[in-house]
Amino acid sequence: MASLTVRGLEDAVKAQLRLRAAASGRSVEDEVRTILREAAGRPGDAGREPAAPPLDSRPPSSKTAEKRVTLIIGGGIAAFKALDLIRRLKERAIGVRCVLTRAAQHFVTPLSVSALSGERCYSDLFDPDSEFDAGHIRLARDCDLVLVAPATADFIAKMANGHADDLASAILLATDRPVLLAPAMNPLMWANAATARNIRQLTNHGIQLVGPETGAMAEAGESGLGRMSEPVDIAGAADTLVRPARGAGALSGRRVLVTAGPTHEAIDPVRYIANRSSGKQGFAIAAAAAAEGAEVALITGPVRLSDPDGVGVTRVESAREMLTAVEAALPVDCAIFAAAVADWRVAEDRAQKIKKKAGGGTPTLQLVENPDLLATVAQLKTGRPALVIGFAAETENLIANAKSKLARKHCDWIVANDVSPEGGVFGGDRNTVHLVTADGVESWPAMAKDDVAGALVKRVATALQGAAAGV
Ligand code: CTP
Repeated sequence: MASLTVRGLEDAVKAQLRLRAAASGRSVEDEVRTILREAAGRPGDAGREPAAPPLDSRPPSSKTAEKRVTLIIGGGIAAFKALDLIRRLKERAIGVRCVLTRAAQHFVTPLSVSALSGERCYSDLFDPDSEFDAGHIRLARDCDLVLVAPATADFIAKMANGHADDLASAILLATDRPVLLAPAMNPLMWANAATARNIRQLTNHGIQLVGPETGAMAEAGESGLGRMSEPVDIAGAADTLVRPARGAGALSGRRVLVTAGPTHEAIDPVRYIANRSSGKQGFAIAAAAAAEGAEVALITGPVRLSDPDGVGVTRVESAREMLTAVEAALPVDCAIFAAAVADWRVAEDRAQKIKKKAGGGTPTLQLVENPDLLATVAQLKTGRPALVIGFAAETENLIANAKSKLARKHCDWIVANDVSPEGGVFGGDRNTVHLVTADGVESWPAMAKDDVAGALVKRVATALQGAAAGV
């Protein structure tokens, strides 16, 4: 069958398809092909380049920690170093989506680039496969940095003049992200007044450079200023741009403690009491505080999340272990208790598995209350953090319960959230919270957990500045 036309699709289904296609880096048509192939029990064409995984299937850590670079590979002999550059960026947990100019394809192939980056490689402005959602716009914006390596004299001239006649130059014209160039050219071309003028113009517009370096050229016997920087140095410069230097943010010089995840309370050596907390909100808060320059101690129960960048992580199992780790992390300026700590543990420490009795019957488990970490820290006589924040996970009477927790636990703020199963908060990526303080209740709109974290961390920074200023 040469082609297949599907008529009468509802608008909602079309919108869903467009979203799926954008998330997986395919055209809508290709997405439909993939769905049909899967439905027919056939995986995708063996010869096709790998498509980006759907954004939601990326590991959770990428949501909080992974930075992304759109790497434009220009057409010069130094393009071969771009392969090593991809590796170096990935070593630094930076995701790389590559764009090859037409000239670059003389030096490296889309296949090697996509194999190394693990993502589809893009090259054509009018490629129907990358026409989802205006592909160049997404490539220009769905990243933390646009990096051009090698940046040839010709490409620099195009940029300086605002050309947009191919995918690479269109991305640069459409981006609102920082741009880093790694120039590579013959020393005479670098020294040429036209190149110097173009570079001046670009740097005046905030575009940054790494290199070029002095050294031997590919042309026999030539050397001078124009050699592309080594991939390890370019990756380092990119890293500095995508991750603001520690100490530069609103929480620089501050220590922040965050608890996250559930606790597991052993019943016997093989069984435990647990709850449905995923740890995502606490991890997002730790990542956001680190991104604002804080020194962060994250103490987490058992979760399937990787360590956020720049955060000191202590992994524990039980509430008592969590308390010990919290006490070891003090003093801090701010402590945020996002963990869903088990309220009770089994009284008896059993060394052996509880066995079923021959005659039937169920065992009786005696429970005792766990220490309350939040209340313990909030009521410290000496070394109490300037700001102690708790969470209230409720399934009913959200605000009333949160207010009574604020009073009962003597903390400064409570972030209240409804964890009824229908809300999908436990394990989900979104949250609707209410900030309960002595001044009243502030209800925030539904947001991604990353955004709740960002907003909370900003409030923390403002409050700590106020506390330091005595207001
Ligand atoms: N918390 C804690 N230690 C505990 C129990 C709770 O530090 N043993 C903290 C949580 O991290 C959260 C706050 O106290 O910041 C409220 O937790 P929540 O589970 O909502 O309330 P509980 O105190 O457990 O009360 P209840 O289960 O009755 O709602």
